[in-house]
Amino acid sequence: MSSLATIIKDDALASTLRVGFYGVAACSVVGIAAYIGYKAAGPNETYALKSRHPESNDQVLALDLGGTNFRVLLVTLSPQPRIDLKSKIFVIPQSIMLGPGVNLFRHLADCLLDFMKKEELDKSGVHYPLGKVCKSNNMRHPSNHFPLGFTFSFPCKQEGLASARLTAWTKGFTCSDVVDSDVVKMLQDAIDEKQINVKCVALVNDTVGTLMACAYKDQNTAIGLILGTGTNACYMEKIDRVGTWDGDYNEPKQVIINMEWGAFGNNSRLNHIRTKYDEEVDLSSVNPGKQIFEKMISGMYMGEIVRLIILDLMQQDLIFIGQRDGYGDYRTPLFTRGGFYTKFVSTVETDEGIAFANTRRVLEDMGIRNPTFDDCAIIQHICKNVSKRAARLAGACLTVVINRINKPNVTVGVDGSLYRYHPRFKRNMEKCIKTLVNKNIKFKLTLSDDGSGKGAALIAIVADRFQKSQMKNLPSFDENDDEEEEEARSHPQSRPSNPITFNTQSVPSTFNRTPS
Ligand code: BGC
Repeated sequence: MSSLATIIKDDALASTLRVGFYGVAACSVVGIAAYIGYKAAGPNETYALKSRHPESNDQVLALDLGGTNFRVLLVTLSPQPRIDLKSKIFVIPQSIMLGPGVNLFRHLADCLLDFMKKEELDKSGVHYPLGKVCKSNNMRHPSNHFPLGFTFSFPCKQEGLASARLTAWTKGFTCSDVVDSDVVKMLQDAIDEKQINVKCVALVNDTVGTLMACAYKDQNTAIGLILGTGTNACYMEKIDRVGTWDGDYNEPKQVIINMEWGAFGNNSRLNHIRTKYDEEVDLSSVNPGKQIFEKMISGMYMGEIVRLIILDLMQQDLIFIGQRDGYGDYRTPLFTRGGFYTKFVSTVETDEGIAFANTRRVLEDMGIRNPTFDDCAIIQHICKNVSKRAARLAGACLTVVINRINKPNVTVGVDGSLYRYHPRFKRNMEKCIKTLVNKNIKFKLTLSDDGSGKGAALIAIVADRFQKSQMKNLPSFDENDDEEEEEARSHPQSRPSNPITFNTQSVPSTFNRTPS
């Protein structure tokens, strides 16, 4: 068990992380996304999106795909500025997570339509006029589309704000024929197939959305961190420090780097701190050899690490002694892969004192009857050390980024179920960061308010405005365009009953902030 309680040697890990970090940032997935006043770019494009004050409400749809649950959101941004949000959660069945990619995107489009019907955004008999195609460049006129931001929380090679190729699936997804494809296009094809008049205008990673949502409230936000089913971070980087940057060097001279730190260790650099349990978790996963750092930290794997340790101790007759008959049923969750949920780790750790009421309940759910006081204490000890190790690994990695940013105040926007619901994760991370961080830096971990939903929506609003302002300068559309416009004006009932108004000139002034 001592390996579990490995105290991370600060300097050693920091330098290891530094090396690994450069590797990740330079050669793997550098998703660079948009932010108002910040720059966003794919290899060949640059978007510097500035903002102005709104005169009306903006509405935008967002999809959030990142784990077993999938959300559709309607986000309304009012001039105060205030963000209102309506959302619905849909389950992604295992058969879809592991099946053909085209079915996944069809499922997302079905859920989107379901939500739009519920919100009366697609009243029967009323259709948004289909986007028109400009003859000169074959682009659709965007003014008739409902804009949509897509939070797609998987590693991508971002080639534009609305164009990203999936590099690899993570978190249990293995849908075929998606890796290397443009996921925005796949989503858009599925949406078009169902004749839903929605256009995906931006794709973001959940870390980027989290950074956005937090920066909206706190100017010092420079990092977005997710600790949930998976783990990852993104941060603001100066353009001249990005070796792979081939866009322009005009203001704003910063980009958001999606680090994809869950993949850290795929190159064996973490082998010296991995345990046999980590190896087992990796080998029995759907993506062996991948997401090594993530598998030591995130919610998808933490419970499983605990379960494997318990089984090991049982095999050595160090726990549940004398109860062999009681736990002999191999169909119980304890003997089932994934049977010990990460939420149980949190539950066990909320027990204080010697009664172990929560721990006993969890053990009973696992198929262990009448655990002794020692059994409960050992289980709690395992949980505490597995989660503490995860918090320290995340904390150490985060410190390298904070030190690299090296500003007097650095706020980290954090989201994810592990961080939200574990009773000690935040405290353990903070303790670790304090021992490693440069003494001139004050850091703050702030719970981000639904970044993966709102963040994508904010970006979509800005992207939509940007596209519309670009389209204004385009040459004329089909000859029928003017007739159709005229028809719509004289028959307003042919438009949706609750039209969504976009003021192409406006975005809240609070957005218009140049990073300090
Ligand atoms: C994905 C990241 C994502 C993270 C948190 C990881 O598995 O690769 O893109 O940000 O999970 O959702």
